[in-house]
Amino acid sequence: MTVLYEPRPATAAELAALLGQAGHAVRTAADPAGLAALLAADPGEPLVVFGPGAAPADAVAFAAEQRLRRPATGVVLLSAEAGAGLLREAMRAGIREVADPGDPRAVLEACGRSLEVSRGLALPQEIPGMYGEQPPYGGQRPRSPGRIVTVLATKGGCGKTTVATNLAVALAAGGQRRVLLVDLDVEFGDVAIALQLTPERGLADAITMADRLDETGLRSLLTPYRPGLDTLLAPVRPTDGEQIGGPLVGEVLRLARDMFDYVVVDTPPHFSDPALAALDVTDHFVVLAAPDVLTLKNTRIALETLDLLGHPADRRIVTLNRSGSPVGLTPQDVERVLRVPPHAHIPSSADVPLSLNRGVPLAAADPAHPVSRAIADIAVRHLSAPPGPPSRERGRRGLLRRARG
Ligand SMILES: Nc1ncnc2c1ncn2[C@@H]1O[C@H](COP(=O)(O)OP(=O)(O)OP(=O)(O)O)[C@@H](O)[C@H]1O
Ligand SMILES: [Mg+2]
Repeated sequence: MTVLYEPRPATAAELAALLGQAGHAVRTAADPAGLAALLAADPGEPLVVFGPGAAPADAVAFAAEQRLRRPATGVVLLSAEAGAGLLREAMRAGIREVADPGDPRAVLEACGRSLEVSRGLALPQEIPGMYGEQPPYGGQRPRSPGRIVTVLATKGGCGKTTVATNLAVALAAGGQRRVLLVDLDVEFGDVAIALQLTPERGLADAITMADRLDETGLRSLLTPYRPGLDTLLAPVRPTDGEQIGGPLVGEVLRLARDMFDYVVVDTPPHFSDPALAALDVTDHFVVLAAPDVLTLKNTRIALETLDLLGHPADRRIVTLNRSGSPVGLTPQDVERVLRVPPHAHIPSSADVPLSLNRGVPLAAADPAHPVSRAIADIAVRHLSAPPGPPSRERGRRGLLRRARG
């Protein structure tokens, strides 16, 4: 059901008719008490639309409150003159869309997109332990094996560590899901620094357990970060990293998949043996690009390499990081170089390096930040449905070596 909050009766009637024609079951409220009563009667409300007669401050306050209490409820604000200040406030509060009430199509599209997100958030069967039955942190095993999500890019500095850490926080959802973040940049791993963790044990300690690693052994190597999120950190000394081979990484990740709902893997900026071993067991590939021609060219090479290795295209989430940076490339330019349109965009923000320096990912410090929201959107839109079947031709590393050599 859709709740419309609009104090002016004529406007309320007009908007209710528009939404009704588009298939919304609309109930209207003219004051805060009416809105509260409607919500109390149906706490699962997926969409609340604030009409142009409502004070934007009320919408902002309402959204900020709902964001944590009922994250599946979408808030859409209809405002003809939303300036940059209001848009920023709206985003921070978690208002999903702001649309011009004079443009019926924009209104319906905004409501449709919000409902799509709510549906994603309300699909308990699609994400193990995600939105439905919530096993307590450290509780029983998930009902089905978790998913391995690997973040990769073939050029350094694209934002792999930024995206992997924030995505892991978003997927863990404050402890609703069990997530393991694995730093496979075994020589120059940055996850410990990005999360301000002290690596007392980590991946290097798995070397002596190779071929006989079990759940207890793996747990002993983890560094907890926050409820629902554990990390497996890279060695402190780059030389220790040299001893971590592909077979060990495969063993670790296959075991981790049985213990966690999601295993998020951060990788080095090249196809190292550990990274290739991770790709072999990966369910979702988050392939990063950035809006400059050199990086885009490298991303295309990464996509071609995934083709060569037989990893299916429908498991890839091509993600343009620092999207919207004023660097003179149009979306068409990006698509022309990549040969595919990006599936996801993460905006550029000075808050990202600030958050890295503070050691607290934006997704943890400010979930309503546009960068946090973009990354949470990847989780909801692209990581909730199970991946398609794996390609029958996976693991053609010989071809890759020939192509490289
Ligand atoms: N969306 C963004 N907006 C602004 N700065 C960003 C964004 N994403 C990443 N950065 C910055 O880019 C730099 C590189 O990011 P990060 O360390 O995550 O990249 P990486 O791909 O892991 O690098 P490496 O290849 O060295 O491991 C960092 O300073 C980070 O703050
Ligand atoms: Mg990194």
